[in-house]
Amino acid sequence: AAVGKGNYRHFMEKELHEHPVVLGDTLRQHIDPATRAVVLPPLPFDPAVVPRITFSACGSAYLAAQVGRYWIEQVARIPVDSDVASELRYRDPPLPEGGAALLVSQSGETADTLAALRLLKQRGQHVLAVVNVSESTMDRESDGTLLTIAGPEIGVASTKAFTAQLAVLASLALGFGRARGTLSAGEEARLTAALLEVPGHAAALLEKGSEIQDMAREVALARDVLFLGRGSLYPIALEGALKLKEISYIHAEGYAAGEMKHGPIALIDRDVPVIALCPSGPLFEKTASNLQEAAARGGRIMAFTDAAGAPALRRFAERVVVLPTVDPFVAPILHAIPVQLLAYHVAVLKGTDVDQPRNLAKAVTVE
Ligand code: AGP
Repeated sequence: AAVGKGNYRHFMEKELHEHPVVLGDTLRQHIDPATRAVVLPPLPFDPAVVPRITFSACGSAYLAAQVGRYWIEQVARIPVDSDVASELRYRDPPLPEGGAALLVSQSGETADTLAALRLLKQRGQHVLAVVNVSESTMDRESDGTLLTIAGPEIGVASTKAFTAQLAVLASLALGFGRARGTLSAGEEARLTAALLEVPGHAAALLEKGSEIQDMAREVALARDVLFLGRGSLYPIALEGALKLKEISYIHAEGYAAGEMKHGPIALIDRDVPVIALCPSGPLFEKTASNLQEAAARGGRIMAFTDAAGAPALRRFAERVVVLPTVDPFVAPILHAIPVQLLAYHVAVLKGTDVDQPRNLAKAVTVE
């Protein structure tokens, strides 16, 4: 049956509001709420001994994979390589015997990701696909599939499918950690509990619409925007920039906050808003000090943080949006939603074709 917009103006708006349900459905597939243990289906490789994981994907799916890389390295201590599919397929990387390949895709049909899948398989890697469309080519050609339960995504800009990919990858990282013996049962229960709270937090966040709309009014006037983050928030900064470019046609760049002084700080002036993803946690002080440097050069800092991070940032930031307080492990999922909302509101203000931006296709099935 055809999917409608319901009472929403755009599919993207509707899909943004589906976050709580989609995240809940996807997480419950892999986390038993009673025992708080991760329950993974049989995988095409043994995470306890796999020598390396190679991630490949395109666009937002690649950025989800980048977050997955931080998580798996941190929790399961497995070496991870990752590259966009259009590079990986021509890079000819040396691959270990018995290695695993993880392909991430909403459509399951993206030409470059599919080519990377075939190459990795041919090179003896055990291929696991994280896809949203069951029976898609990637689902059929991989050795195993983990489905995101996002439902049909019509807007060209990925929203709920992206966060659902994060939900699957977070569960996988924890499952790998247990298999590897690097994650204690207590830690596993603590982190799965944090994950299971994410759908509720996502619902609360969607209520913050007016604060983000205010921010969008300023961002809509800019010609260039910089998104900054560190650690697992760095790929979310890249995602914020990608989303804004894609649907509002404003030039945006995502940077690792620590790289600012190696070039991008030269761009800083009153006309370039700096959007920072800066939750409290081990990297907070480092990111805050990068932001302060930008503020000292006239930069207008607009930060997403939590209650613990807000007071320090308010000393120099023009705007501070306070998100729910969560374990740093789940912060990237929670920060993805406001950057998507921001891009949405900016695009609406600019009057662009939000669901069908120029020059883009939902699934890129040609190289
Ligand atoms: C996301 O907003 C983009 N439209 C795009 O980057 C997308 O994520 C990419 O083309 C990959 O698509 P897939 O997930 O269907 O493979």
